[in-house]
Amino acid sequence: MTEPVRVRPLTRTDVAVAAALHARVLDMEFLVRYGPAFMRAYYRAWIEAPDAISLAAVDEQGELVGTLLGATDTTSHMNAMVRRSGWRLASRLALYAAGHPALAKDLIITRGRRYLRGVARLVTSRRHGAATGGSTVERGPRIGEITHVLVRPERQGLGAGRVLVLAALEQGREAQLDEMVLVTPPDQDARGFYERLGWIADGDVTSRSGEDFVRYRYLLRRGDPPGGGGPPGLR
Ligand SMILES: CC(C)(COP(=O)(O)OP(=O)(O)OC[C@H]1O[C@@H](n2cnc3c(N)ncnc32)[C@H](O)[C@@H]1OP(=O)(O)O)[C@@H](O)C(=O)NCCC(=O)NCCS
Repeated sequence: MTEPVRVRPLTRTDVAVAAALHARVLDMEFLVRYGPAFMRAYYRAWIEAPDAISLAAVDEQGELVGTLLGATDTTSHMNAMVRRSGWRLASRLALYAAGHPALAKDLIITRGRRYLRGVARLVTSRRHGAATGGSTVERGPRIGEITHVLVRPERQGLGAGRVLVLAALEQGREAQLDEMVLVTPPDQDARGFYERLGWIADGDVTSRSGEDFVRYRYLLRRGDPPGGGGPPGLR
């Protein structure tokens, strides 16, 4: 029987449960290898940064059934997250990697340069007090992004994923976005889920770390022909 779930914003009190659930359900993600303390800091940073989409699906007992993370403006959200919480995230990651040599090696190979550039930007912005927020000039279509959706395994297939994605699309509409995008690994079951909800596959992309993804898009503004739009931010 389908138990009703409702969607509400994720809050700081959800962080520990949400991060642990994420690590359990999306255990194939590179991010999850950064350890539990990093995952908690990541969730907290995500929720607190402006332009976040961070949603919880909860059942009648208030238990967390699933979560969704995204952004109505990926660039400004990510910049704010790095500016506000970059040091905390970097220190959690460095501490964990120091005790996990295999992770440290993979990190250096796949993300070393990118993360070092991020640390350099953090140092510069701290020294100059520079704001590294999103651009003030609006150009092109306004695109939001869903980055993670996950439902507790024993509650999958009961509609929680759908209500989370619909709530994210609603937040995108309220933010007057033109469309939302997401990427998912080509071999993921989730592709069928997104297609069922009306997302349109829009080609293959490779992340900055070299991983392959299929890109999906969902038009929010009526009358827009598919095919336009800029690239999404990638994990
Ligand atoms: C993918 C996921 C979020 C879907 O959530 P869910 O609560 O299980 O999905 P729902 O019950 O809301 O399904 C909504 C619809 O999609 C369909 N659907 C769900 N998963 C599907 C799949 N793998 N393939 C095809 N259709 C699927 C359902 O049958 C339902 O269709 P309906 O209109 O006939 O009812 C969930 O299964 C999950 O957490 N998977 C593991 C993590 C993951 O892969 N996340 C996505 C990548 S970040």
